[in-house]
Amino acid sequence: MTHVQSGPTCTQLLAWFGADVIKVERPGVGDATRGQLRDIPDVDSLYFTMLNHNKRSVTLNPKTEKGKAIFTKLIEECDVMVENFAPGAIDRMGFPWERIQEINPRMIYASVKGFGPGPYEDCKVYENVAQCTGGAASTTGELDGFPMVTGAQIGDSGTGLNLALGIVTALFHREKSGRGQRVTCAMQDGVLNLCRVKLRDQQRLAHGPLKEYPQYPNGSFGAAVPRAGNASGGGQPGWIVRCKGWEEDPDSYIYVITQAAAFAGLAKAIGHEEWLDETHEWSTPEGRLPHLDQVFAEIEKWTMTKNKFDVMEILNPLNVPCGPILSMKELAEEPSLRATGTVVEVDHPERGPYLTVGNPVKLSDSPSEVTRSPLLGEHTDEILSGVCGMSADEIEAAKAEGAV
Ligand code: COA
Repeated sequence: MTHVQSGPTCTQLLAWFGADVIKVERPGVGDATRGQLRDIPDVDSLYFTMLNHNKRSVTLNPKTEKGKAIFTKLIEECDVMVENFAPGAIDRMGFPWERIQEINPRMIYASVKGFGPGPYEDCKVYENVAQCTGGAASTTGELDGFPMVTGAQIGDSGTGLNLALGIVTALFHREKSGRGQRVTCAMQDGVLNLCRVKLRDQQRLAHGPLKEYPQYPNGSFGAAVPRAGNASGGGQPGWIVRCKGWEEDPDSYIYVITQAAAFAGLAKAIGHEEWLDETHEWSTPEGRLPHLDQVFAEIEKWTMTKNKFDVMEILNPLNVPCGPILSMKELAEEPSLRATGTVVEVDHPERGPYLTVGNPVKLSDSPSEVTRSPLLGEHTDEILSGVCGMSADEIEAAKAEGAV
């Protein structure tokens, strides 16, 4: 019972691990994302196909009488029910948690909502709302610029991953207790959880300026953790610097971390051995902190003479953590990501081959194979007969009533 991104992320991950995921969709309509951001007319969008691999699709309207009976049978037969509709939608269909437990006490019923219990619990929420209300937008962006959302779907996909972990934990619990349980994840909670270093810094603020932030020492700190550009969220200062060709290539940059243990190698590599002299103010991490902008400006003078991959080649052997800014094009074409199944090509009967992400979790005995997303209702007949035990006549009658 999932749609859009957060719920489908969860169930797709479970499907990659081998679960038989039955996607229940509204007859004739299906998941709204089938039709959103379409690149090819009348073909399931990439938005849909990339979130619904390895699943079977049944169309079913639990708001009809016959649909309720079929849905009840599915609840009897299945182990887990996942949904991420607006608050109360499943209750309004006639299936509150109490009723689901009556039908199948072993059922694990898992939901994503925008907010947990509290003032906003009834609100509908999409990705960027979660990023804004979970602390990510407030702490992301240029120092004096707008709050900024990130392209990583931490609210939707991130919360879907939390839900999957909750479900397998509940399944493990059921092995011992014999009972199902309710699993709930709020997108605000998921985003805030990923922003924990900023909650850490909020409390550090009471004890003085945040010395690794670019506002130190010349800027001022207010009551809340400020945006910090590309400063590292950890104890080792880092920044994005330009590389050769940046004028034409918007991704010709690299992130460099001036980890204390590797600073000597870095200083030597960029021709600043004098920084290591113990009389030099920058020879210690504490001495460098008030001058990080100058340190990175000097590093950048050197990186601008090389392309981002050459910088990586030189700095990595020196144990200087660094990462070139890789574009989506570069990632899509990277052979090592194809080899590990992190990026996979899938064939689809209506759209042809396309790229998608594979399972980011690798198990040594249980590799994941990515298979295409189902067409709307592609497996309706086989699920109604195979899972719900309906005869051909009963299936026809349900279709005639618009229940499936
Ligand atoms: N048969 C008949 N009706 C169905 C159905 C089916 N198989 N599946 C869903 N519906 C109905 C629901 O019952 C609901 O009807 P109701 O409002 O009369 O109760 C309706 O479809 C639409 O559901 P809703 O969730 O309100 O869709 P929306 O497009 O208005 O809102 C979201 C979309 C994502 C904002 C909302 O679902 C939401 O806030 N979800 C929780 C948070 C979340 O997961 N957000 C991120 C999504 S990536």
